[in-house]
Amino acid sequence: MRHANRKLGPSGPDLFPLGLGCMNLSFEGRPEEGQAIRVICEALDAGMQLLDTADVYGLGEHEFGHNEALVAKALKEWGGSRESVVLATKGGVRRPGGDWVHDGSPAYLKSACEASLRALGVDRIDLYQLHAPDEQVPLSESLGALDELRREGKIRWMGLSNVSLAQIEQSLDSFDLVSVQNQASPYYLSGLQDGILALCEQKGLAFLAHSPLGGWQAGRIAHEVLLQELAAESGHSPHQLVLAWLLSRSPALMPIPGASRAGNAISSAAVARIVLDKDVLLRMDDFFSSLQPQRDS
Ligand SMILES: NC(=O)c1ccc[n+]([C@@H]2O[C@H](COP(=O)([O-])OP(=O)(O)OC[C@H]3O[C@@H](n4cnc5c(N)ncnc54)[C@H](OP(=O)(O)O)[C@@H]3O)[C@@H](O)[C@H]2O)c1
Repeated sequence: MRHANRKLGPSGPDLFPLGLGCMNLSFEGRPEEGQAIRVICEALDAGMQLLDTADVYGLGEHEFGHNEALVAKALKEWGGSRESVVLATKGGVRRPGGDWVHDGSPAYLKSACEASLRALGVDRIDLYQLHAPDEQVPLSESLGALDELRREGKIRWMGLSNVSLAQIEQSLDSFDLVSVQNQASPYYLSGLQDGILALCEQKGLAFLAHSPLGGWQAGRIAHEVLLQELAAESGHSPHQLVLAWLLSRSPALMPIPGASRAGNAISSAAVARIVLDKDVLLRMDDFFSSLQPQRDS
């Protein structure tokens, strides 16, 4: 038994149920380039098909496009078929002077997309996601720019990230979207309970769960008592159990765990074949719910 593939939009391709988040391969503490490339190649060899990156994944303004260029380099070195891979990038965040600033203005998004095309070394970006809505710019204007890029053939599919239910509902009236990338993990259960996942299922959108192992809190997973018990019983690692639990939440949900070690990318890909029993899932539900008040406060 294995988890079903995930659909990228109502008429999009069926994809391996987990993707690789490439962000940490370009951030502080990143591995050396050869190792980073191995992580990406091993993830693809293990069956993953979606690589998530962003123009802003680098050490600052001076490294814009670092992660996109790394992904492009890895894809060149990888021996498999490029057609089977979906390159998902994002635009709409800038790093002036090291700050993090949303910029959803059409002019900026168009120039950011051009830069991403160059960094990725492609004529068309598979999935271009608005990294986050810009409070200073109506969301419809930002998405209007992406839609123009799509009609010009510079991007194939459009997605949103870090959005609310209302923002998605409003956008779906006018735009052809295929995905939502929001945070969801045992430490961020609200990302699974705010109605967005249900809407994605209903509309056929992929829900790309970012930071699925808790992001900066991922180190905690190995120390959670229930996960240690279940790991001893099942032979799966605590991190694998969390990803399997996420996959069971919805056929629309695709976790995009990050990894800076190839072994972790391979171990995450293996989760496609880990289908947990109902009683195990219920124990995990209860346990993760019990963590929320302390962790959210
Ligand atoms: N849209 C957004 O605003 C946004 C924000 C944040 C993240 N993201 C996306 O989400 C992706 C994932 O986020 P993230 O990397 O911050 O957090 P994460 O996936 O929740 O956690 C990554 C951590 O988990 C460890 N890990 C991964 N797989 C493992 C395994 N099978 N066994 C044991 N440990 C494992 C990694 O270790 P090693 O590094 O040692 O391998 C790393 O420390 C990013 O790469 C990015 O694509 C998007």
